[in-house]
Amino acid sequence: MRFYLDHAATTSLRPEAGEAWLGAATVLGNASSTHAAGQDARRLLEECRERVAAVLGCDPIEVVFTSGGTESINLALRGLWLSRGGGTSAIVLPDGEHHASMDSVAALVRDGAEVRAVPLDGFGRIRPDVFAAALPGAALATALAANNEVGTVNDSAALSAAAADAGVPFHLDAVAAWGHVPLSFRRLRGDAEAGEGLVAMSIAGHKLGAPVGVGVLVVARSARITASMHGGTQQRGLRAGTQDVAGAAALAVALERTEAEREGEASRLARLRDRLVAGVLREAPGSELLGDPVGRLPGNAHLLFPGAVGESLLFLLDRAGVAASTGSACQAGVAEPSHVVRAMGRDERAARSVLRFTLGRTSDDADVDAVVEAIGEAYARASGARSAGRS
Ligand SMILES: Cc1ncc(COP(=O)(O)O)c(C=O)c1O
Repeated sequence: MRFYLDHAATTSLRPEAGEAWLGAATVLGNASSTHAAGQDARRLLEECRERVAAVLGCDPIEVVFTSGGTESINLALRGLWLSRGGGTSAIVLPDGEHHASMDSVAALVRDGAEVRAVPLDGFGRIRPDVFAAALPGAALATALAANNEVGTVNDSAALSAAAADAGVPFHLDAVAAWGHVPLSFRRLRGDAEAGEGLVAMSIAGHKLGAPVGVGVLVVARSARITASMHGGTQQRGLRAGTQDVAGAAALAVALERTEAEREGEASRLARLRDRLVAGVLREAPGSELLGDPVGRLPGNAHLLFPGAVGESLLFLLDRAGVAASTGSACQAGVAEPSHVVRAMGRDERAARSVLRFTLGRTSDDADVDAVVEAIGEAYARASGARSAGRS
């Protein structure tokens, strides 16, 4: 039996989303065709767009279906930067963002953008006052609603308000947070002026029980944004190409179910997570919970194991049937030290000694028990192996 504690990487398909996908995939017709079959597909697609908009708190026309989080973020950051007004080419980029944002910005730097970094505090939080101080005159800003590695939840309302006050267009990466904490695009946007404040928000379907390959970028009607994909006028010209009706149908169901279950799931997962953290701290003396102990995603437990390499722990846990993650990106199969843990002020050794356990819809007490049972021996062996390797 396997115990899956990596729901932040991807979570299982919701059966209802799978059924909706299959049902829509059998509707023949390109949603851009004018014949009756095309119009049937179009009707279904637009109905899904309305349902998605209702859940995300935006207008249907503001929903741009994409292939997932990375594409949404690329479209938002490049698109906003290309449409910037005169003046500065600065992009406000907090430390510890997801690589989809970091690497999109790095590509824009090669095209002449400058980066204004925003340091994190020791819990991995973006402090709204520090963020606000970086904004004046910037071309755009981006931030995580919640950090996907350490689980720290940011104050998205305060960050959006700061961007609106500074007259800067703001993109929110809600991929890790949406469905776990309340996030309404309309409420966060408030009464910001056209093209300022929160103008774009990224969502990925596979984190919420839809299949891999579908996501959303919410783009405010008033946003000034340039397309990256060319070849058609679909979706306000922002995302050319034949539209994925089946993906939209699956996503609509997944978002609706996730939102309907959100509060109940948040308390259920927080209880499981707290039991997991208490058990690990007891069985692996010296381990430490990282990230905000209170303002964190309900299903996220991110722990430091001093003296052990995260990948060795992963390997040993995997042999015990437990699937976890170091949370950080891999280069050629080798985990990099976590840039998030570094941004929280820890040294490189600590940034290589972390594990992330993430719980989701199918998690239960047996998953927690499996981790708690396996972690003591895994930590002893991983830290022993490390000191033996060095001598
Ligand atoms: C916060 C965050 N942003 C962006 C992404 C990228 O999303 P996707 O895997 O759908 O491309 C992820 C995925 O791990 C994420 O956690």
